[in-house]
Amino acid sequence: MSRPAVLFVCLGNICRSPLAEAAFRQEAGRRGLDVEIDSAGTGDWHVGGPPDRRAQAVARRNGVDIGHYRARQVRPEDFRRFSHIVALDRDNLAALKALRPADGTAELLLLLDVVEGRRGEAVTDPYFGDEAGFDATWADAVAGARGLADRIEGQL
Ligand code: 4NP
Repeated sequence: MSRPAVLFVCLGNICRSPLAEAAFRQEAGRRGLDVEIDSAGTGDWHVGGPPDRRAQAVARRNGVDIGHYRARQVRPEDFRRFSHIVALDRDNLAALKALRPADGTAELLLLLDVVEGRRGEAVTDPYFGDEAGFDATWADAVAGARGLADRIEGQL
């Protein structure tokens, strides 16, 4: 594989996928893994906006500043530019499959499929919940980041 490139995808790109992006940046940095990393949403409501304040707060508590991230929507080119497109839940995985152009080369994955014992599980959307939900999202993002880094290192 040439330089791997990973895109994390949720619905709004303001809660779950920015946290997955942040956790994976941390994990790749720790391992010295040379990888391009980004996140996007299947929906367009928050395009151009920063991550949810509660997502910014949980990332900051865990050592990453995501205040400069800006939401964007998934584009057809993403399926050629990224080697891996990682959905945070099944609905977004299904949306990605529907959006994938015929010449798309990216491998589509569900984040928790790469975590032992969590196969098929979704990262729960914390948007309509309380602050504690964001800690759970961060924990899932960290577990997913480790599993994904293992997988990509195994594919190099
Ligand atoms: P995310 O969370 O998909 O994890 O970024 C959501 C953010 C916003 C909305 C839904 C989910 N919304 O309906 O605006």
